[in-house]
Amino acid sequence: MSTIQIQDEQGVRIITINRPDKRNALNLDMYTQLTEYLIQGESDNGINAFMIKGQTDCFTSGNDVADFLKNSNLGPDHPAFKFLFTLLDLDKPIVAAVTGAAVGIGTTLLLHCDLVYADNSAKFQLPFVNLALVPEAGASLLLPRLVGPQKAAELLLLGESFNADDAYQMNLVNKIIPSDSLFDYAKTQAIKLAQKPPQALQASRKLMRYDQEIVRAQMNKELKEFAIRLQSDEAKERFQAFLNR
Ligand code: COA
Repeated sequence: MSTIQIQDEQGVRIITINRPDKRNALNLDMYTQLTEYLIQGESDNGINAFMIKGQTDCFTSGNDVADFLKNSNLGPDHPAFKFLFTLLDLDKPIVAAVTGAAVGIGTTLLLHCDLVYADNSAKFQLPFVNLALVPEAGASLLLPRLVGPQKAAELLLLGESFNADDAYQMNLVNKIIPSDSLFDYAKTQAIKLAQKPPQALQASRKLMRYDQEIVRAQMNKELKEFAIRLQSDEAKERFQAFLNR
């Protein structure tokens, strides 16, 4: 079964991350599929919104740590960065439904989503420094802006996990929804978006994202630093330690 699944329903492309045996860790092939499905959806007049989710017990444990070790040569063409820049350049809105672990990119991708819903099982974490890495996806800019510099330092430098309530308090999550209705609720909200006049919806979204070029520049800076950190001995030790647990 495919590790990324799509279903188009009432103008919404629902993307499901499906690699439960590895807690939905994202490997290169999965990033490539995610990017393709987003690009296809962008050019499909029948699709007016996206929704992204994992299984009922896991959103994603972030980048596949084994891939960090195997593919330590990072450039702008790396599938993870292609995915992130595609997300940055989306015209159509995206809704996320978060259950269980949302680690690393599992949390930073939410900074590019328009509406984020979570249940009480959601557990967010930005463990970049713990892994001897630096933030990506523009999180070093978007998170301080969202939560303030001190709170962002706590999340990005200490890298401890936080729950749905914390995420709601810091405006990372729009609403906490009971587990049994989370996916339906998120889908209903995405369908509402999909039923709006598409051009006005996309133009409004664009106006709200007036400083995309600043975010892009920060993502490029992060990418350069991330590439250096990925090659470091301290990072390789951390990845190996996780894999050898
Ligand atoms: N990359 C690669 N494999 C991963 C992974 C990741 N990001 N996250 C989990 N896995 C694998 C584990 O190695 C394990 O594989 P195995 O069964 O072959 O040994 C399997 O998924 C289950 O993981 P486990 O840690 O036993 O599940 P858990 O429910 O106890 O914990 C997490 C879930 C997400 C909290 C924990 O797996 C975790 O912290 N993962 C790493 C997250 C991370 O550092 N991501 C990178 C961010 S930049």
